[in-house]
Amino acid sequence: MHLSQAAMNLGQSATLRLNDLARRLKAEGKPIIHFGGGEPVEEIPQAAYDAALKKLETRRIKYTPASGLIELKNEIIAYTEKQYGFKASPKNIIISGGAKQAIYNFLMAVVDPGSEVIFPAPYWVSYPDMVKLVYGTPVVIKPKEDSLLIDIDSLEKHITSNTRAVLLNSPNNPSGAVYSEDFIGKLVEICESRNIYLLTDDIYGRLVNKGVKTPLPFSFSKKILDDSPIVSVNGVSKMYSMTGFRIGWSIGNEAIVKAMTKIQGQITSCPSDLSQAAAIGALRRGEAFIEELNASLDKKRSILINELKKFKKVKLYAPNGTFYSFPDFSAYDKDSARLANMLIEKAMVVTVPGVEFGLEGHLRISYCGDEKDIIEGFKRMRELLDK
Ligand SMILES: Cc1ncc(COP(=O)(O)O)c(C=O)c1O
Repeated sequence: MHLSQAAMNLGQSATLRLNDLARRLKAEGKPIIHFGGGEPVEEIPQAAYDAALKKLETRRIKYTPASGLIELKNEIIAYTEKQYGFKASPKNIIISGGAKQAIYNFLMAVVDPGSEVIFPAPYWVSYPDMVKLVYGTPVVIKPKEDSLLIDIDSLEKHITSNTRAVLLNSPNNPSGAVYSEDFIGKLVEICESRNIYLLTDDIYGRLVNKGVKTPLPFSFSKKILDDSPIVSVNGVSKMYSMTGFRIGWSIGNEAIVKAMTKIQGQITSCPSDLSQAAAIGALRRGEAFIEELNASLDKKRSILINELKKFKKVKLYAPNGTFYSFPDFSAYDKDSARLANMLIEKAMVVTVPGVEFGLEGHLRISYCGDEKDIIEGFKRMRELLDK
């Protein structure tokens, strides 16, 4: 039977595949340690639970407006004003089924067949396939030598008359690196002066090491929101450990929000009513949760760094945020997929090969799991690699 070009050209999400594998091996009773995860182990905030339960008790879980509930938009406006320092209005916001759907809506709204979409490596695994799904061309910029960050000149050199958008994820999955104020300021200037969309994927924006600040593109904008090509994507998945609720949102100019709403309306009608209720609870009363999550991640990050330093040949890049690290293991094997496979087979440790993020020789290691697993996983890896 016929399958479309888009379906055949699409890769399976490497991280979701590894999650499935880890789940399967665990179910078979194997002592798997999962360093491939993309969600905190914490339970959801009490406020989200209470709000979801209250909503459920009404027994009225219905369609909402395509771009989401005004009550949730008002919470997003309050959150954005506090965190980003500017006041958006409801017409500038669309709520979606996770940040992933928000990014996809955005790409569908701005990319024509053959349009180029630029993003730095290492990149979130889904970016290239999402761009291809809307018949765009991904343009990947490699980082500087001995760094996990690109420089602004190499990005600018890749801009052509076909460039439609730049995607930036900082703090970054997989590296945990945070782009500097200087870089963000220049990027905003380039995108605004050349009228290129800048999608800033802020999903890890609140998960940063103590004392680290994430520069926010909107604060460098010289334009009013309705004239700006900046679109910020965020959501409850990571900062409130609410991945299963599937609530994300985008803030942008009215025209793009309208276009994204039309697309979403035809694809999923609206985000889940019940999940929106939970997100309202989290945004209203979940601030302490983020602080606690950050404190726990700070502790796990120190354990991770300490453990990584014990390897004989790992090149460490200390993360500034997220719950990922992206050390260079190329001294053990330049082929990261082969190395990751060996670690599963011989050490029962699941990592994600760097090649999936556009940078060979590295492994992505998540430290959002249990502390004792972090210690045990690295011990097993060292026993295998440093023996
Ligand atoms: C960089 C990045 N953007 C977006 C997402 C998607 O988030 P959500 O679960 O809200 O769809 C993820 C999830 O792993 C991510 O790492």
